[in-house]
Amino acid sequence: MEILDGKNTAQILKRQIAAEVEAWVAQGKKRPHLAAVLAGADGASQTYVGHKEKDCQEVGILSTVIRFADTVSEAELLLAIEEINRNADIDGLIVQLPLPKHINEQKVIEAIDPAKDVDGFHPMNVGKMILGLPAFISATPDGILELLKHYQIETAGKHCVVLGRSNIVGRPVANLLLQKGYPGDCTLTVCHSRTPNIKEICLQADILIAALGVPGFVQADMVKQGAVVIDVGITRIPAQTQSGFSLAGDVDFGGVAVKCSHITPVPGGVGPMTRVSLLKNTLKAAKK
Ligand code: GUN
Repeated sequence: MEILDGKNTAQILKRQIAAEVEAWVAQGKKRPHLAAVLAGADGASQTYVGHKEKDCQEVGILSTVIRFADTVSEAELLLAIEEINRNADIDGLIVQLPLPKHINEQKVIEAIDPAKDVDGFHPMNVGKMILGLPAFISATPDGILELLKHYQIETAGKHCVVLGRSNIVGRPVANLLLQKGYPGDCTLTVCHSRTPNIKEICLQADILIAALGVPGFVQADMVKQGAVVIDVGITRIPAQTQSGFSLAGDVDFGGVAVKCSHITPVPGGVGPMTRVSLLKNTLKAAKK
């Protein structure tokens, strides 16, 4: 069994991105600049945005966080997005989700200029991605693909089972692995809360991607011997740690690790890879 080490892989990729950024700037080009909109005081969102700022700094990308109280109106938020869309100094724009309940998230996402949508959430980018056209691919599915590539995991003709149909992970990763070429050419099954016989379907998976947000959902008796297991779960569980919580994956790591050929740990698997994808997309947006 081999661990798919997202932390180490992310470090390698970040060094490559940093070198590309410096080469770009050395040509006299503008330093890439990411803007992040954060509305409200959700603890996880604050942490994620903090990570994104730190990552940008590490690779030489400028970042600006625009903060709003959780009482911000939808109109104010839309206005801020319009301003950033028009600001030629900003290459990439993300709006951290979830937004306060009174704001229509889809409307906000659709207000982002698709050319600056480095989260790849705008329907224009999602549609292009599904058609296999050049597009910004959202961070988690892209991070998973980069990890499969880094470890040269074979995907052609493999049966990939995706657990979860979210817009952020399940749907896009299923579409990407269905596409022609590498990493892709998989036979795809997507399971969700209404799927009967999930265990039987999982047992057919050569590649199993768990993105349900249910800690320990995937047990050893659901995994085929030699399968590749990707755990996208990052549920916060109250714990006696400095932060007051620990992170739990969707996979029972101890039980599953002895059966599979490759597995991602939580933390240190998919998580760090998602952070790299945002940097990659921001550099791509700057180069356009
Ligand atoms: N909330 C959870 N994941 C993400 C992400 O990838 N991007 C944004 N903007 N918000 C999120």
